[in-house]
This record gives sequence, C-alpha cells and structure tokens, in this order.
Amino acid sequence: MSSHTVRKPLSVLLGEAKEEGQGTLKRHLGATNLVLLGIGAIIGAGLFSLTGKVAAEHAGPAVTISFLISAIGCAFAGLCYAEFASMIPIAGSAYTYSFATMGRLFAWIIGWDLVLEYAVGAATVAIAWSQYLNKFLMNFGLHLPHAIMTSPFEGGVINLPAVCIVVLLSLLLIKGTKESALVNAVIVALKVSVVLVFVFLGWAYIDPGNYDPYIPPNTGAFGNFGWSGILQGAGIIFFAYIGFDAVSTAAQEAKNPQRDMPIGILGSLVICTVLYVVFAHVMTGLAHYTEFGNASDKLAPVATAIAHTPYVWMRQFIILAILAGFSSVILVMLLGQSRVFYSMSKDGLLPPVFSEVHPRFSTPWKNNLLFMVFVGLFAGFVPGDIVGEMTSIGTLLAFVLVCIGIIIVRKRMPDAPRGFRTPLVPLVPILGILVCGLMMAALPWDTWLRLVLWLAIGFLIYFRYSVKHAKY
Ligand code: ALA
Repeated sequence: MSSHTVRKPLSVLLGEAKEEGQGTLKRHLGATNLVLLGIGAIIGAGLFSLTGKVAAEHAGPAVTISFLISAIGCAFAGLCYAEFASMIPIAGSAYTYSFATMGRLFAWIIGWDLVLEYAVGAATVAIAWSQYLNKFLMNFGLHLPHAIMTSPFEGGVINLPAVCIVVLLSLLLIKGTKESALVNAVIVALKVSVVLVFVFLGWAYIDPGNYDPYIPPNTGAFGNFGWSGILQGAGIIFFAYIGFDAVSTAAQEAKNPQRDMPIGILGSLVICTVLYVVFAHVMTGLAHYTEFGNASDKLAPVATAIAHTPYVWMRQFIILAILAGFSSVILVMLLGQSRVFYSMSKDGLLPPVFSEVHPRFSTPWKNNLLFMVFVGLFAGFVPGDIVGEMTSIGTLLAFVLVCIGIIIVRKRMPDAPRGFRTPLVPLVPILGILVCGLMMAALPWDTWLRLVLWLAIGFLIYFRYSVKHAKY
C-alpha cells in the first residue's frame, strides 16, 4: 500500500475522541432535534442575499427552479454523508472520516478543500452581513463612505464592516465562549420567523406582472438567463444549503441513527427547500428581478422587496434578525474551519501551530488568529460574488468526493458496522456525483481556475510538507 493510501487507525481516532471528552457524548437527539439542528445551520446568506443576485443575473423569477435543482444534488450527497458519519462513531468532519476509511491523500484533498467551504464561506457571509448593516444604517439616514464598504474591485478600498465582524467573532471563538443552546434556539426561531413573516405579509402584494417572463430568455451568453442561467444559478444558490452536513456530524449523539439520520438530513433539506422556493417566489413577485441588480442592493434583496409593501416599518427588525442569523452562521463556519485544521495539524499534515492550545482558554488560538487574518483578507478585499462562487464550487467538490468515497468504502470495508446505509448504492452516489458535477460544470470558468489554483497550492504543501511530517 502506498503511503498516500494509508488509513488512520480507528483505535487512534477513538482514543482522541475520549481525550477530547467525546467518548462521553450521550445519545439524546431525536429526529425533531436533528431537523432543527439542520435548519439552524442551513438558513443564512444564501437565502437572504444570494437569491437576489441569482434572480438579477442568472435566472429571473425561475431562481425557484435553481433552488429545486440544488436541493436534489444535496439530497443525494446528504445520504452518502450520513453513512460516512455513522461508520465512524465519533463527532468529526469529512476530513476525519475519509482519513479512517480512504487514506491520507484523499483526506488531505477533502481537508484542504473544506477551507473553501468553511473559511471562504465565512468571508462570504461576512460580506453579506456588511451589506445588510449598510441598509440598516441607511434607513436611519447614516451613510458610510463607499470606500470603506466595498472591496477595491468594486470601486472601494476595503469592506471594513465585513472585516470587523470576522475579527469580533474570531476573538469570541478564541475566548471559547460557547454559544448556549438557548441563544442558538432563539436565532433559529428568528431566522425561520423572518422567512414566514416575509412570505405571509408579502404574498398579498405580489405583482403577477413581475413573473412575466418566468424564465427570461438567454442573452446569448452561457449562464445569462434561460436554462443555462437556471443551472448556473443552482450552482451559486447551492450556498444556501451548505450546513446540512452539520446534521451528519451529530450521528454519535442521535438516539436512533439508522432511522433518525436520514430524517434529520432529508427533513431539514425538505423543509428548507419549501421555505426557500416560497420565499424566492414572493421576493421575485414583489420586485422585478432586474431591481435586485443594483450594486448597493445586490446582497440585501429582502430590503428591496419589502419596499414594495406597506410594511416598510418592519424592515429594521427584519434586518436585525438577519444580522443575528448571519453572525451565528459565520461563527459556526469559523469554528468548523479551526476544527478541521486542528485535526490535520494533529495528524502531522499541517504545522503544529494549528493545534497549539491556549493555556487558559483551551482553544487553538493561533489557528483562530491565522484564520482571522485569512478570512479577514477575503472579506475586506474580495467581492462577495467571487467568494460565494468559490465556496459553492469547493463544497460541491467535497460532496462529489464524499459520494465517490461511499462507493470506495462499500468495496473496501463492506462488512464494517455502520449506523446508517445509503440506499441504492451505487445509484444514489452516482446521481449525487452527476447532479453536483453538473452544477460545478455550470459555474463560471474563472471560479474553476480559482479552484484548480487552490488545489495546486494544496498539493504543493502536501508533497513538500505533509508527506514528511505525517504521523500515519
Ligand atoms: N447555508 C448557509 C448560508 O446560506 C451557509 O449562509
């Protein structure tokens, strides 16, 4: 066996889990808890910010169809994710699972790729956060200078509010303040309420004229409206579903994983899909899709849509709820990122600085600080749509790899016990690879270029550093 395919022994993983206190995790989550966990992790900037951008630039009112296509890809990948998670009876990420089942190189690629999902994803949500903050202040008559609100590529100097929220939340992570279950539950309730209030109040003010045409004709360029626009829109709006993998990481705490994991993953996906489609339908019914294209409104479409109702007075509350919801998504993403690099560093694939723990706070503080700088740079100096598309392509690749992984694992470890088995293997993983692959293929070529560049840097580090220092 080549050293690149060496797997991390399960006994070592279990030992580490005990050290971190994971050995004592109780099986206390039922199906409903898992569904709520998923919804809490899923709803964020994808829905409240990217819906407007995809409608304005790619799909028009048919952004609803983009949401549906995306959901189908997620469902196939989610079923594979669930088996992967239930095989390794500890809490972990796709990186941890793949190291134990598919070997070091595969694990490295997933771990490195997850930076795009978590770190770059955090930057994306931070930029959307900044746009809603701007709206909030504008409604009070406060106008922040354009130079400190947008990246140099959009005529500004730096997106300062986006940097500030990243710094603030990174410091919070270093201090180790755990979000209490209560705060989390309140934020989930706030986010879902915003969606429901928006749909119920907005429905009566829909102008059917805004749905004509429902699928604006393609302009001649791939991805600019028409069916190619819907497909490219699906690849971008896919961002809105990121986070349901959080459900699979709770496999060890599920009371009855065999039954409840698919309910948790598919249930939260189905509920979010319904909410998303109805929300997008109302949004593009209230305002004409071209209205969401204004530079200042692009990532704050809810405010634009509400301006078409008599409930303008509610917008400040809605924006505040959205800001709180985004903050929790950023926090979870920064946390996920630091966990992945912590594990990779413990395994010797990355320098020890990423797993040094603070003597008082017991958190990987240097890791958090380095990512504060990395994410802060993206948030401050890169446009929101670029980081959003990078996040989508990176996560889609992770899903494709997880689907491939299930096919490999069924061959290599057919008898290993698992709490949950993906149905109809290899059909489901193959469909997952096809749908996610199709969404990736529809993303702009420059996003592909960035992905290839990112992976190339990853391979350089792997062959220069990781192979020499790897513990397994
Ligand atoms: N799904 C999460 C969001 O839309 C990442 O913010």
